[in-house]
Amino acid sequence: MTKDQVSRSVGFGAAAAGMLLVLALADVRPAAALQKDKEFAKPIDERTLVGAARCQQCHNWPNPEEQPLYKQTHSFKFVRLWENLVWGKDDLHSQAFKNLDVATNSIAKKMEDKFRALRGDKYKIAEDVNCLACHASVKKPQSILKPSDWTVKSFDVNDGVGCEMCHGHGGAYSDRHQKDKDVDNPAPGEAIKVVPWREWPTDVKTEWGLVNLRDPAVAAARCASCHVGNTTDGRFVTHEMFAVGHPPLPPLDLVAFGREQPQHWGLPAKMPYLVNLARKEPKKALDIFHYRVGESQAARRFVESAIGTLAATCELTGQQAIQAKATNDALDFAAFDCYSCHHNLKYPSDRQARGYDGPPGRPQFRLAPFAVARLVVDHAASTTEGKELAGLADDLDKIHKKLATSFGNKTFGDPAAIEQATLEVKAWCVSANAKLQAVRYTKAETTKLLAKVIEAAGREPSTDLAADKACLRAVADPELAQIYVWAAETLILDLSASPDEPEEGMVKPPASVAALRDDLAATVVTQLRPGAQFFYERRPTGKDATSNLVPLAKRLDKRMEVFNSFRGDTFRAAFKKLAKLPDEFK
Ligand code: HEC
Ligand code: HEC
Ligand code: HEC
Ligand code: HEC
Ligand code: HEC
Repeated sequence: MTKDQVSRSVGFGAAAAGMLLVLALADVRPAAALQKDKEFAKPIDERTLVGAARCQQCHNWPNPEEQPLYKQTHSFKFVRLWENLVWGKDDLHSQAFKNLDVATNSIAKKMEDKFRALRGDKYKIAEDVNCLACHASVKKPQSILKPSDWTVKSFDVNDGVGCEMCHGHGGAYSDRHQKDKDVDNPAPGEAIKVVPWREWPTDVKTEWGLVNLRDPAVAAARCASCHVGNTTDGRFVTHEMFAVGHPPLPPLDLVAFGREQPQHWGLPAKMPYLVNLARKEPKKALDIFHYRVGESQAARRFVESAIGTLAATCELTGQQAIQAKATNDALDFAAFDCYSCHHNLKYPSDRQARGYDGPPGRPQFRLAPFAVARLVVDHAASTTEGKELAGLADDLDKIHKKLATSFGNKTFGDPAAIEQATLEVKAWCVSANAKLQAVRYTKAETTKLLAKVIEAAGREPSTDLAADKACLRAVADPELAQIYVWAAETLILDLSASPDEPEEGMVKPPASVAALRDDLAATVVTQLRPGAQFFYERRPTGKDATSNLVPLAKRLDKRMEVFNSFRGDTFRAAFKKLAKLPDEFK
């Protein structure tokens, strides 16, 4: 099997640059040797959609430990097996197509009306492949059927964004991944059957079509395909779509997004099989499940997601630059920092105070993903295992400056220079992610990371920062503010409990998280879904099980009001109050 085949099975499109990135971030190795093993031999190309109805047959048990089959395999010690109950009841992905209904969704109605005026009365958003790309389930991976060949029939709309849009098309694995066989000499009380697939190497699982979401770099790329956009995957919210009313896409952070999705999986520390494995065979637990005992999962996911989001954002910008070059046009406005153009005329202005990356007043690239990625490598380089990351923060400053120049030296950017700079960012991300694997997010390091977030968020505007230190400027845009709030929440929640037992015993958020939310309620969007839980896992039973599927159309006004009321001084003040907090966790 070639590298090329491996990455196709991840479900990403065929553009060489994009694939290499995902490959390298995911550290997928060719499995040529393994493929010789008959056990792993995969049926030829069955990576098509089977639909959530099929997954539901087995992933829909409120009490899996009472099922005769699972009493034999103890599968519930490995996965929940009630995932569908959470996805169907609490996860907006299951509504992603329903919410395109113009009869019930006001945003959908507004968008369709505006587009009809442009494209004629026959136009329907529910039949527009450019919308279905993110709001429905595509029947074949983009590597098998190119987005340019899509028609309405290429999509299954029943499930909205179904299981397989994240986990990978199930045609090949949906039967194979739960086949069991007898255990030779089971100990009393132990499982009498095992599922051999469970410990198959991740590259083999990937080749069968299962996306390795346990690897945060892979997961971030998967979410980013829709939550940032990726034209190779056929997914891009154009400025035209925004202008007719599409909601702005909130900045992606894997942990915060996972919490609010909400999370239908148990963190590794909650899954006895993984905990045992990590004690007995730590290398296996790390290789297959990306899990290390004693490390903060949340911190690692936040860190790797920061790098993955930067990679995905630059990937999309690079794609836009290539297109602009080919058509001799400007980049789509959606490739720029929205708030370069969209903000009230303010005197005094947070942006003036922050300073500019290029000629003042020209639309720029988004600073947020750079600032967060810089912060996490800067911290990592200070750890005992992170020596190899030394210099990476400075390198990123230089590349960022190059990108800023490529955006600034012509009014709407210089596409050839932008393309070049985005390639450099991607190479940087690959290298940073590889080096981050050595770092251990112990409680002490998670505390230091939190201190860095608090420091960065509370930073005052400075007039003497060199142009290549843009990432160190005071926060002046609502996206970066949002990510810092989420990061602080993630790390505080994690530190408030044992790192392996994040939400144990927590019924309400720690006082510092509650205070941060209160202080910023009017100026920063601290939650995507109001009323969403603050802790990690959502279970189908218990008093928390009320459905929370309020469409965005019913909450966007309030969100935008807060979003547009961002104030640097209020934001900084809230974080300054937290300055002493990290000491409490020492
Ligand atoms: C016939 C029953 C069945 C069907 C159908 C099924 N699953 Fe599973 N799935 C299981 C069982 C049982 C396990 C746990 C296996 C074990 O004990 O190792 C599992 C495990 C998983 C895992 C974890 C695998 C790993 O290697 O980490 C994922 C992810 C998953 N299923 C997703 C899906 C999706 C998505 C679908 C639909 C495309 C699906 N399953 C269809 C029964 C099923
Ligand atoms: C790149 C992926 C992507 C594309 C393409 C896309 N959307 Fe969306 N859409 C999203 C995401 C993500 C959200 C949720 C945004 C959020 O979290 O705030 C969303 C939200 C919406 C909502 C609000 C749903 C609700 O809960 O009320 C509507 C309506 C909508 N999109 C319509 C469209 C239409 C119409 C098109 C095509 C013209 C389209 N979208 C194209 C990703 C996409
Ligand atoms: C929006 C993306 C998304 C959708 C849709 C989705 N999942 Fe997941 N799922 C995830 C993520 C992310 C994880 C956690 C991966 C990790 O960190 O281990 C996960 C974890 C799981 C696990 C535990 C194994 C693992 O990899 O952690 C199972 C089983 C599972 N999902 C089944 C399903 C089923 C069945 C459906 C549909 C009813 C579904 N999922 C829908 C994103 C998704
Ligand atoms: C196939 C495209 C697609 C993928 C992949 C995807 N999402 Fe989404 N996501 C959407 C769409 C579309 C919506 C909006 C649904 C609606 O409101 O109708 C959404 C909504 C959400 C929301 C609710 C946002 C809000 O403002 O209320 C969260 C949280 C979320 N996604 C998290 C994730 C995470 C985490 C992943 C990766 C594990 C992921 N998504 C992968 C398309 C996708
Ligand atoms: C290069 C400048 C520029 C950038 C960058 C830009 N826009 Fe716009 N946008 C405009 C202009 C110009 C209009 C038309 C304003 C008018 O008609 O009065 C517009 C209109 C809009 C509208 C219609 C409502 C309104 O305020 O006029 C929305 C919504 C919108 N843009 C969202 C976005 C989002 C989201 C982004 C970032 C992903 C973005 N824009 C990036 C220049 C920009």
